[in-house]
Amino acid sequence: MKNKINVGIIGFGTIGTGTARILINNAEIIKRRLGAPVVLKRIADLDIKKDRGIKLEKGVLIEKAEDILNDPDIDIVIELIGGYEPAKKFILKAIENAKNVVTANKALLAVHGEEIYKAAAAKGVDIGFEGSVGGGIPIIRVLKEGLAANNILSIYGIINGTSNYILTKMTNEGKAFSDVLSEAQRLGYAEADPTFDIEGIDSAHKLAVLTTLAFGTPVKFDNIYTEGITKVTPLDIEYAKEFGYKIKLLAISKMDNGEIEVRVHPTMVPNEYLISTVDGVFNAIYIQGDAVGETMFYGRGAGDMPTGSAVVSDIIEIARNIINDSIGRVPSPAFQLNERKALKIKKMDDIVCPFYLRFMAMDKPGVLSKISGVLGEHNISIASMIQKGRKEGGAVSVVMMTHEAKEKDAQEALAEIDKMFFISAKTAFIRVEGEV
Ligand code: NDP
Ligand code: HSE
Repeated sequence: MKNKINVGIIGFGTIGTGTARILINNAEIIKRRLGAPVVLKRIADLDIKKDRGIKLEKGVLIEKAEDILNDPDIDIVIELIGGYEPAKKFILKAIENAKNVVTANKALLAVHGEEIYKAAAAKGVDIGFEGSVGGGIPIIRVLKEGLAANNILSIYGIINGTSNYILTKMTNEGKAFSDVLSEAQRLGYAEADPTFDIEGIDSAHKLAVLTTLAFGTPVKFDNIYTEGITKVTPLDIEYAKEFGYKIKLLAISKMDNGEIEVRVHPTMVPNEYLISTVDGVFNAIYIQGDAVGETMFYGRGAGDMPTGSAVVSDIIEIARNIINDSIGRVPSPAFQLNERKALKIKKMDDIVCPFYLRFMAMDKPGVLSKISGVLGEHNISIASMIQKGRKEGGAVSVVMMTHEAKEKDAQEALAEIDKMFFISAKTAFIRVEGEV
């Protein structure tokens, strides 16, 4: 039986630093839980001069990742550099060298997860990725183990801390989008390329991972409908408040008649839904299972220590498997690889929900009846409406909530309305959750 577990971290940035800090500061509690110490043998980073605020023994910090990947004494390689390459090359090399792997790299898993899961299974090593979704929330373990008895019916998540932080500050403090983005970057929440956060791509990466685990299906990342928060305006946030809603970037994955809906977009969520109260960098993931019913998981979705907590939990789990000779006990994608079925992703045109519409229209007689006429022709029925102010001859906001309608009908109606002479700007359009 092994009397210690040696690990090597590649990438000493935000999450690498958090992970190292936890391994060092919490070494005693980890040892008591595991029955053996976890030894942080090496950390590789391109820049070994920068002060990261952590005191390491001489020789631990090195420049070359290869010196970790090829070190026969290292049991677990922890990839925390992010991006596709060389991260993928490093992970596959670690697997080839019969090392277990931990990563928080959701972008890589969303696009190349299948190749990595298969390579790990073929080599008989474990791959842990708890830090890839929901920061410190142990949501991967929930899907792999806690809810393993269930047919999963739906997942609704706020799974990008940066976007939620931005939307919260815009909603509560009326701050400008750009000011808040730079705050989130300074706090270490944002991706190296922050467009991944604000354009919904990071949420879609995470949703691909969750959907694979929940429904036992490979997911083609490009088939996920993805829309970020860059078009959400303070005006729409204010109208949402008037209707009793908050605007959140939701990642939705749900089973519908043998197909799955997988989509990320700004969504108006009723104030009475618990998920609408999730603010700041916090994430929440609501999961409905056929046996358990409704569940919700909440916690910090980004940052060095919460994500480091998730990364270290994977290290401990894999270390337990090494010590107990039970590597491969839980399959990486939550299902046995040969038991998975490729599910069809429902076309966005076919999804059905209520819509929030904000028209910028000239305040003239007959305008409203023309708008409602086109909506009616496309089977869209109006549930409520607000018109603010009067501007004879000028443009005013005409804001509507519709009953449930088909996405295709809504898009076609708006394309028609936006061409009308009395419309002065593209109509704002936000999907709504719950009954209107
Ligand atoms: P950082 O950019 O802060 O850290 C990455 C580090 O890796 C940098 O120090 C970088 O050096 C170094 N690096 C890059 N290439 C190499 C290489 N070839 N060899 C050795 N070191 C290298 O990123 P984060 O810590 O924020 O993110 C790491 C991973 O964790 C990403 O996959 C990210 O998506 C994920 N993640 C991040 C979260 C967060 O809150 N930040 C939360 C959850 C997951 P240099 O700066 O010189 O390029
Ligand atoms: N950039 C990501 C976020 C980091 O803001 O949620 C956590 O995965």
